[in-house]
Amino acid sequence: MGSVTVRYFCYGCLFTSATWTVLLFIYFNFSEVTQPLKNVPIKGSGPHGPFPKKFYPRFTRGPSRVLESQFKVNRIDDMIDSHVEDPEKGNMKFSSELGMIFNERDQELRDLGYQKHAFNMLISNRLGYHRDVPDTRNAACKDKSYPVDLPVASVVICFYNEALSALLRTVHSVLDRTPAQLLHEIILVDDDSDFDDLKGELEEYVQKYLPGKIKVIRNTKREGLIRGRMIGAAHATGEVLVFLDSHCEVNVMWLQPLLAAIQQDQRTVVCPVIDIISADTLAYSSSPVVRGGFNWGLHFKWDLVPLSELGGPEGATAPIKSPTMAGGLFAMNRHYFNELGQYDSGMDIWGGENLEISFRIWMCGGKLFIIPCSRVGHIFRKRRPYGSPEGQDTMTHNSLRLAHVWLDEYKEQYFSLRPDLRTKSYGNISERVELRRKLGCKSFKWYLDNIYPEMQISGPNAKPQQPIFINRGPKRPKVLQRGRLYHLQTDKCLVAQGRPSQKGGLVVLKACDYSDPGQIWIYNEEHELVLNNLLCLDMSETRSSDPPRLMKCHGSGGSQQWTFGVRSLSGRRQAELRVEPGGRTPSLPRSGRSQVGSIHE
Ligand SMILES: *[C@@H]1O[C@H](CO)[C@@H](O)[C@H](O)[C@H]1NC(C)=O
Repeated sequence: MGSVTVRYFCYGCLFTSATWTVLLFIYFNFSEVTQPLKNVPIKGSGPHGPFPKKFYPRFTRGPSRVLESQFKVNRIDDMIDSHVEDPEKGNMKFSSELGMIFNERDQELRDLGYQKHAFNMLISNRLGYHRDVPDTRNAACKDKSYPVDLPVASVVICFYNEALSALLRTVHSVLDRTPAQLLHEIILVDDDSDFDDLKGELEEYVQKYLPGKIKVIRNTKREGLIRGRMIGAAHATGEVLVFLDSHCEVNVMWLQPLLAAIQQDQRTVVCPVIDIISADTLAYSSSPVVRGGFNWGLHFKWDLVPLSELGGPEGATAPIKSPTMAGGLFAMNRHYFNELGQYDSGMDIWGGENLEISFRIWMCGGKLFIIPCSRVGHIFRKRRPYGSPEGQDTMTHNSLRLAHVWLDEYKEQYFSLRPDLRTKSYGNISERVELRRKLGCKSFKWYLDNIYPEMQISGPNAKPQQPIFINRGPKRPKVLQRGRLYHLQTDKCLVAQGRPSQKGGLVVLKACDYSDPGQIWIYNEEHELVLNNLLCLDMSETRSSDPPRLMKCHGSGGSQQWTFGVRSLSGRRQAELRVEPGGRTPSLPRSGRSQVGSIHE
């Protein structure tokens, strides 16, 4: 059976029935021989879909290919239903036809989109530049009114190799849903993108259809997001800077609540609630109100809003104090941005700058809030589709700088997790240290005590921190099993190739290390395999040539749903999840081992 035929048949079924049936299936594949896989319907997978009985994903690249997946679930109908908030209003009439593949060109566009942008470019292009999005605000927000004399905003959008349709939809959503008198300008900063359409076509489009308020700035070399924003800000002349990512869609009345908060206090920095635009369907859905935190690996994380922060006199519309920001979307007074030291220009490309500016805001006399009445949708891509020019780990470099400038004695917490970094160089930070002195900033201990008392200092009594999945809100899926994932023939463990916290990282088989909690997987009721309590094993639905990777858990099933089969073709189990008995202490798995099943035939 030709795998191409099967693939097209599959796509046909997927989209005509509006049922997203994804076959995922784990099995180990050392022999580079693709074995026929049998379908393992999972309990509760429902009555949907004619789907070919057999589906042969093929992986032929590279030695790191360890897993293959095949797994049948259907979820998209639930997912889409939940997005149709008010079908009568015509909001989000999300048509399943949007994703249909009619010919090879569509197929190519779709595959290319996932490759270049890590989201469904086919649908993005078909959506066009304007669309309504559901009003996801709390009802109480709709009754609020704002002053008429708000400060004007310069919206700064940096982009690098963005899909033109996503970029222009971002721009148009701002133009369509912002009162003209509040929008001073939109500044697009092209960070030396490679794609032609972002040059001529964009230029032409802006001149023809968007004259006046849009400035396009072209970096002549790759500067990265951090310096890119500083360049955008330097060209801005509005009173307030609003930074947006290049794949967003703002919601109704998004800007007024942000500007109003800044008008009240110039040293207030504000973030909208970030709604979710699915990378696969581009459906827009509401996300719960959560706030920003971080862990001692200096990674941003979402936290539940503590009760003490909820239910002030303004109730659900009140600004929420946030220890950190996610980084992509925020607004602040332009003079305050400059006064506060913009960004650390010694940081490269991306990563860590959001924590750095968050600490700086709080420690140096400012405030950081999430404004629940302002909502902006953001495409949560499946991975960061680009790296740094020379492939450096900019996140680590940047985190190291921020640790040395801002963390005081607490940088030990970071180094105890990353002892390899103790002696690593981080460039010249004297300007940032001087900035901290000049601004008279408080200590990191003050920050922890007053702004983020929930942060736990690691030690024997610390509880492991649970991640929050923004897509599913505070509800956390129940853990079914917890343990190491063994490949039985070699008695090795499935582990992250690099650090287990590295998003987009590959998985490989290595000797099991029982002292390493980073090798522990959780198998939960959503059928996700979560490594190190952090990232989910993710199998791209559309690019079957891509090996599974560790990705942020998106909570939407599909690419992150895994099942354990019963036995392999040869009748032998190939792998199993052996469960650590009790607690967190890793122990030898001989006793108390319970088998979920083999990872598949
Ligand atoms: C670091 O930078 C400052 C000014 O930015 C400079 O005065 C100092 O000499 C630099 N230090 C080193 C070791 O290069």
